[in-house]
Amino acid sequence: MKKIVAVVMLVMSLVVLQGCGQSNLHTFTLDESYDGFITLGTSADYAPYEWIKKVDGKSELVGIDIEIAKEIAHAMKKNLKVVNKGFDFLLEDLKQGKVDFVLAGMTPTDKRKEEVDFSKVYYEAIQVILINEKNKDTLIDFESLNQASVRIGAQLGSIQQELAEDFTNAQKQYIQAIPDLMMRLGDNQIDAVIVEKPVADGYVANQKGLVIADIVIGDPDGGSAVAVKKGDQAFLDVINSVIDSLITSGKLEEIVVEMISLNK
Ligand code: ARG
Repeated sequence: MKKIVAVVMLVMSLVVLQGCGQSNLHTFTLDESYDGFITLGTSADYAPYEWIKKVDGKSELVGIDIEIAKEIAHAMKKNLKVVNKGFDFLLEDLKQGKVDFVLAGMTPTDKRKEEVDFSKVYYEAIQVILINEKNKDTLIDFESLNQASVRIGAQLGSIQQELAEDFTNAQKQYIQAIPDLMMRLGDNQIDAVIVEKPVADGYVANQKGLVIADIVIGDPDGGSAVAVKKGDQAFLDVINSVIDSLITSGKLEEIVVEMISLNK
């Protein structure tokens, strides 16, 4: 009995910690000669941008954003620490100086630009709606999704949450972690999830029965940028020049291809 109570309490405290945006820390020693660390904030629930992959029984933090962050750290001659927590906590952590920069497939919106500064866009992606295959003949357009019987899901604090708000008649579910959203979609507790296309492609490949609905949504020119604390111009200049050289050398494209295939 005692054991059961202990287990229940452990589970409860884990749930509470999760709710508070509990973080975990990953350390990458890039070069023994570097002096100290810079700290990245991310939310590793967003393959191929960032996710936790089990490699030989060990949990490893991987993704496009992690590779870019390593390049930025190299340019600063620093090793890299990564704080991984809920997406909705990242900008606050940056503003409070708990992290030095954020890469999290983050879209540089006007609202966010009031709080932090952004680099140039390093990777463009469109928004899509993921649905169950069995609904592909009924959920076909904005109208069919915008019904009181339809449950639309999006990540808490994301631009997808804002897009979901356009479906004024539908029910909305905003959840912190993308894997939880996808589980609910698979279990038919949610009918549609709005998410960036590279993420959706991964789930279509890995989770049976999901398809991308034939519906256009969001900004067709949207993309991800690196966030830094307001006014951190010298750091931003370094970040922008790293992005430029990753793009012109073709290295970024290589990273993208590699991470997409690592997610399969
Ligand atoms: N691009 C979207 C946004 O900026 C979603 C990003 C979610 N990122 C993540 N690592 N979960 O709001």
